[in-house]
Amino acid sequence: MGSTVGSYQDHFNYKVVSQFAIATIIWGIVGMLVGVILAAQLVWPEITFNIAWLSYGRLRPLHTNAVIFAFGGSALFATSYYIVQRTCQVRLFSDKLAAFTFWGWQAVIVAAAITLPLGISTSKEYAELEWPIDILITVVWVAYAVVFFGTIMQRKTKHIYVSNWFFGAYILTIALLHIVNNIEMPASLFKSYSAYSGTQDAMIQWWYGHNAVGFFLTTSFLGMMYYFIPKQAERPIYSYRLSIVHFWALNFTYMWAGPHHLQHTALPDWTQSLGMVFSIILLAPSWGGMINGIMTLSGAWHKLRSDPILKFLVVALSFYGMSTFEGSMMSIKTVNSLSHYTDWTIGHVHSGALGWVAMITIGSLYYLIPRLVGKKDMYSTRMIELHFWIATLGVVIYIAAMWIAGVMQGLMWRAFEPDGTLTYSFVESVKATYPFYVIRLIGGICYLAGMLLMAYNVYKTLQDKKFVDAPIPTPLVMAH
Ligand code: HEM
Ligand code: HEM
Repeated sequence: MGSTVGSYQDHFNYKVVSQFAIATIIWGIVGMLVGVILAAQLVWPEITFNIAWLSYGRLRPLHTNAVIFAFGGSALFATSYYIVQRTCQVRLFSDKLAAFTFWGWQAVIVAAAITLPLGISTSKEYAELEWPIDILITVVWVAYAVVFFGTIMQRKTKHIYVSNWFFGAYILTIALLHIVNNIEMPASLFKSYSAYSGTQDAMIQWWYGHNAVGFFLTTSFLGMMYYFIPKQAERPIYSYRLSIVHFWALNFTYMWAGPHHLQHTALPDWTQSLGMVFSIILLAPSWGGMINGIMTLSGAWHKLRSDPILKFLVVALSFYGMSTFEGSMMSIKTVNSLSHYTDWTIGHVHSGALGWVAMITIGSLYYLIPRLVGKKDMYSTRMIELHFWIATLGVVIYIAAMWIAGVMQGLMWRAFEPDGTLTYSFVESVKATYPFYVIRLIGGICYLAGMLLMAYNVYKTLQDKKFVDAPIPTPLVMAH
């Protein structure tokens, strides 16, 4: 993979970008397939023949780790490495370290794929991996930071483009979150105990969990958005000033919102209220960013009719706006008392995950992949169009089913008879949810089918082609 024509330093390093781009598609399919299996297990609990390592409790963390860290993570490495080079007009700081981040990250993923089905887990959500893997993640992440910030330090442009600010914030914050939440005492090679206990442990865990959503699934993907939307729309960002305000306001506010995951728990009441207030404030920068992205299409709206890549990017932003509005509402204590523990949360998660994170990634990869082999277009634009429609249909089916199921569950659980007894037993609510689990499964299969179509389109685009390290433009023709 990858060949360099001419002088080495005069070319961008596309090799590592293409490796991560391919990994994104492979892990996307694997992670979503596991999601579909989970959805099927909720319809037919016996579907995996009671094999322990295929049981729901073990596959669930495998799904979340695969889609967030393997699929999302590889997409972020690919796009941040591409964007930082193009906008700084230099090759990556170190090819060797960049290659190390690729192989190191794949090793983390493989280790997760082995240990989680074996039931080896810290039991902290989104931080399930045991301490030896945590250490490997830390080493890879430090190498990532050196490559990314090293490239920025060597830049030939005066200005640091806004996407790099977003990627930089995500790299620094994830380092901080990962280290603080994973301070633990090893008891053996595969078992450790958290340094925190009780309410404090819960608080640290959800400071981590919420900011993992905030920085791994949001700030970083906004970096992607600020590059690929202007590129694909061939328009400058609607307001560069707003993008800077967006950056500072979003990152400052996110840090305080974690307690909304622990409403009505043993957490001190004032911290719950603080989490709620900051979550409502968070709506402003979130929508500021969404509006900035969407308005970038000013003067290019007509392109939406014929350009399915732009459709992916813009619909992703619409889901971003919708899921952030929903999240702010769900953080209100009274709303949370209905939504918490129900499938409404799962609907919210996937409107963010499938609608925002996966769609912005898919759109960006359709732009990026042909360029890595010196082409402008994918093998088939009609296939992209088809992918767009089945993916959109898939998300809508998934989240609508979960919204209805969630609100129904919440209402059934709080229904009382005049004598104070519960109107419904828990199992009645499970039975009532059943049809919605079938519908969600159909939505998930649609989304996965779209990913398979993408894999075929990418295969045809890359067939008989070699990845080529593109030359760095000379200042006269400089345009990132
Ligand atoms: C303004 C932005 C957002 C706010 C205020 C917010 C708020 C919330 C709230 C209140 C919950 C429910 C907590 C509970 O009852 O357990 C939640 C759960 C969740 N949200 Fe959001 N959300 C936002 C955006 C997003 C986005 C964009 C994504 C995905 C990309 C996302 C992913 C998640 C996940 C994964 C959970 C489930 C966590 C868990 O319990 O495992 N959120 N969010
Ligand atoms: C074909 C696509 C997908 C399907 C069918 C699917 C299905 C599922 C299912 C069945 C669950 C368990 C829900 C429960 O326990 O009630 C789940 C959880 C989750 N999924 Fe997915 N998923 C898909 C894609 C994704 C993607 C792309 C992401 C992230 C980028 C994602 C992130 C999550 C998260 C964070 C949770 C845990 C939510 C929580 O604890 O509140 N999923 N998914």
